[in-house]
Amino acid sequence: MWCVGELIIRLKDHSDSLRRIPLASRGGAFIFPSPFESQIVTKTSLITGGAGFIGSHLAEKLLSNGERVIVVDDLSTGAASNLAGIRDHESFEYIEASIDDESLVEELVSKVDRVYHLAAAVGVALIAKQPIQTIERNIYPTQLILRHLGKRLDAGKAIPCFFASTSEVYGKNPKETWCEEDDLVFGATTKPRWSYGVSKAIDEFLALAFHKERGLPVVVGRFFNVVGPRQTGAYGMVLPRFVQAALRGDPLVVHDDGKQTRCFAHVDDVIQAVVTLVETPEAAGRVYNIGSDQDVTILGLAQRVIERVGSSSKIEFQSYAAAYDQSFEDIRRRIPDLTRIREAIGFEAIQNLDGIIDSVADYLRSSANAN
Ligand SMILES: NC(=O)c1ccc[n+]([C@@H]2O[C@H](COP(=O)([O-])OP(=O)(O)OC[C@H]3O[C@@H](n4cnc5c(N)ncnc54)[C@H](O)[C@@H]3O)[C@@H](O)[C@H]2O)c1
Repeated sequence: MWCVGELIIRLKDHSDSLRRIPLASRGGAFIFPSPFESQIVTKTSLITGGAGFIGSHLAEKLLSNGERVIVVDDLSTGAASNLAGIRDHESFEYIEASIDDESLVEELVSKVDRVYHLAAAVGVALIAKQPIQTIERNIYPTQLILRHLGKRLDAGKAIPCFFASTSEVYGKNPKETWCEEDDLVFGATTKPRWSYGVSKAIDEFLALAFHKERGLPVVVGRFFNVVGPRQTGAYGMVLPRFVQAALRGDPLVVHDDGKQTRCFAHVDDVIQAVVTLVETPEAAGRVYNIGSDQDVTILGLAQRVIERVGSSSKIEFQSYAAAYDQSFEDIRRRIPDLTRIREAIGFEAIQNLDGIIDSVADYLRSSANAN
């Protein structure tokens, strides 16, 4: 049987030539052999960014629903190990490639029944450092996917599509809670951190235009701080960073005064909402906030993490300028108004913060033991 490490090497060695070969003939290089029992496969879903944190959970969910799943990921921030639990599933296919390859997008979009577009440049720290990559990664692939979904519309097939957007599109709107029709209030273009929210907003405009002008059944989900097992702290995500530090007994570094608030939702609750929205025809052409509306200060989060993990770690404070750069601007509050998604699909984020912290700590402990 393949182990993940072997697979990555082989894929990397052959990625250029393999990318040009029609998918059906790619054979064993990309398709994991499976010991799983056969089940009736109803539809095929494409997940871009499926080796990432949210995408890998979504892939597991769709497979457990009896779907066939194709994941495309270039492993820029994701990891093949995120797919370890499903790599042998007979209905699962993994392609290591970038979704900015038009011939690949054309080929994949022509054969699937659903598209979940999650691939993006992600993480505040990464975005502050690499704005060119953020803008290019977040806009061009979305354009390609929508263009080829448009071609399927021309051929008479309306393929439902989910586009993963972000609470960052609200920018620094000063409202207490944000609802989907609120204004997007970005900072100056000299501050690179806004390039993430603006690039996702452009994607939203394009997706909604494909719905309005062409009738494409695309739904936009704005995620608010999704957390859970497999999220990496490497690109600035706060919860895995805190839990990792607490487990090691290192200081938990809180940015600014720590009084800024966020709402954290477990990835399982979020992907349930994503799948339900895609399967709800009335949701097409609309934007939905997805997340929890229970806010906590970042300092409060650090204290809760230390308590749940039973750690002796201390809390240290760091300015945004030291953490990122002088131009960095943060958002003090970020709370979604969930009225629309509650009315549409009865959504509630079920898992509470303590349970979420425990699940992340369990995951990090077991990964440390595995390494
Ligand atoms: N996690 C959150 O709290 C959150 C919040 C708001 C929005 N989002 C959005 O959700 C989506 C998933 O985020 P995540 O948290 O799972 O992050 P992630 O970094 O784990 O997942 C993104 C995945 O996309 C892949 N990728 C990036 N560019 C690619 C390309 N050109 N071709 C192929 N693969 C590519 C990465 O390797 C990675 O696996 C993203 O679109 C992100 O903007 C996430």
